[in-house]
Amino acid sequence: MGLVGPGFVGAHHIDAVRRLGFVDVVAIAASSDASARRKADALGVPKAYGSFEALVADPDVHVVHNTTPNHLHVPVILAALAHGKHVISDKPLAMTAADARMLLDAANKAGVVHAVTFNYRGNPLVQQAREMIAGGELGPVHFIHGAYLQDWLLEATDFSWRLEPEKGGESSAVADIGSHWCDLVQHVAGRRIVEVLADLTTVIDTRLKPSTSSEAFARSGDAAREAVAVRSEDLASILLRFEGGAKGSLSVGQVCAGHKNGLWFEMNGRQASVRWLQERQNELWIGRRDAANAVLAKDPSLLAPSARSYAHLPGGHQEGWADAFCNVMRDIYGFIAAGKRPGDPRPPAFATFEDGYHSACVVDAILESHRRGAWTSVGETVVARR
Ligand SMILES: NC(=O)c1ccc[n+]([C@@H]2O[C@H](COP(=O)([O-])OP(=O)(O)OC[C@H]3O[C@@H](n4cnc5c(N)ncnc54)[C@H](O)[C@@H]3O)[C@@H](O)[C@H]2O)c1
Repeated sequence: MGLVGPGFVGAHHIDAVRRLGFVDVVAIAASSDASARRKADALGVPKAYGSFEALVADPDVHVVHNTTPNHLHVPVILAALAHGKHVISDKPLAMTAADARMLLDAANKAGVVHAVTFNYRGNPLVQQAREMIAGGELGPVHFIHGAYLQDWLLEATDFSWRLEPEKGGESSAVADIGSHWCDLVQHVAGRRIVEVLADLTTVIDTRLKPSTSSEAFARSGDAAREAVAVRSEDLASILLRFEGGAKGSLSVGQVCAGHKNGLWFEMNGRQASVRWLQERQNELWIGRRDAANAVLAKDPSLLAPSARSYAHLPGGHQEGWADAFCNVMRDIYGFIAAGKRPGDPRPPAFATFEDGYHSACVVDAILESHRRGAWTSVGETVVARR
C-alpha cells in the first residue's frame, strides 16, 4: 500500500495495515519531498514522495490510502483511479454530494475496489447490535438517537483546517464527526436516513489561527496568531426520519467540555433497546421492560457468530479504537486479497464509496435544512445541483 497524507489518522492507517501481516507499506506522499522523507523515516516506510502524482504512478503501490485534508480527496482519488489502483479513503469522501457522486462513478468505471473508513463499524459490539436488530431481538425499531461530542475545538485558540470551508467544506462538525454517527446508526439499524431538520450553530465565531498548522487534537503552542471569522458549525441539533418510519435525533459538537470522543447511540424497539458508547466500547447495554436490563461484555464466546470475528481477545481483555480500525482494514484487504470484484458481497465493516456518497447526501441535506429552516429530503439537493 501507499498512503497520501501522513498526518493524525494516516499513522493509524499504516499501523492497522501492518497488523494484518500480509500487506507491505511501500510508500507515503506528503506535501513536499522534505516532509515526506521525515514522515517516512519516522514511520519506517521505505519510499517517500513529495507529490501524490508520483505515489500513484509507483508500480509497487496497488492500494492507495487517502488521508489528506478534505479538499484534496477529489484530486488524490481521481489520480489513483486513473492509474487503476484500489482506493481506501478516509471520510468524508468529498466536500459535496455532487463530488462524492462523481468519485463513486469514477471508481465504478475504473473497476477497482473502493472503500471509506467508517471505522466504528469495526467494533465487535456494534456488529452484535446490528445482528440483534437484523434477527428481530429488538422488534421493530422506532427511535434512533444519540450524540457525537468532543471538546478539542472549545477554545478560541484551537484551530483546524476543518474550520476553513475551502479546505474542510461548508460543514465542519457535521461532516467531520456527524458523518461517522449517521453511517454507524444506518449500518446498525439497516435503514437509511431519508429526511432531516437541522439547527446549526457556530459557538466560537472568531478564532485565533496559528501561523503553522497542527494535527487534530494537538494544541498549537505557537504565539503568532491571526484572528479569523469562522462560518462553519461547531455545534448541531438534528432531527431525523428513517426509512420504515423510525424517528431519531442527533447532537453533534466539538465545543463540549469533557467529551473527548463521545460517540454514542441508542435504539429503542417494541421489545428491547440497545445502547453503545464508543468511550465504553467493550459493553453493550440491553434494555427490557419485563426483565432485568443487562450489560453484555465483549466476550467472543457470548457474541453472535457474525460479531465474534471482530473480537480477538477473550472476555475481560479490553479492545479499543485501533483494534476496530484494524478490523475495517482486515475486511477490506481480505476482500482485495481474495480477488473479489467491487460488486461482490462484502463483509459488514467494509463501507464503500456508495456509503461515502450517501453520507455526503445526508450532510448536504443537513446544511440545506438549516438554510431553509425546514424538513429536507436526503438526496434532493444532489439532484438539484447535478
Ligand atoms: N476515520 C477517522 O476516525 C478519522 C480521524 C481523523 C481524521 N479523519 C479524516 O482523515 C483526513 C485527514 O485528517 P487528519 O486529522 O489526519 O489531518 P492532518 O492534518 O493531521 O493530516 C493531513 C496530512 O496531509 C498532509 N498533506 C497536506 N497536503 C498534502 C498534499 N498535497 N499531498 C500529500 N499530503 C498532504 C499534511 O501535511 C498532513 O500530514 C480527513 O479527511 C479527516 O476527515 C478520519
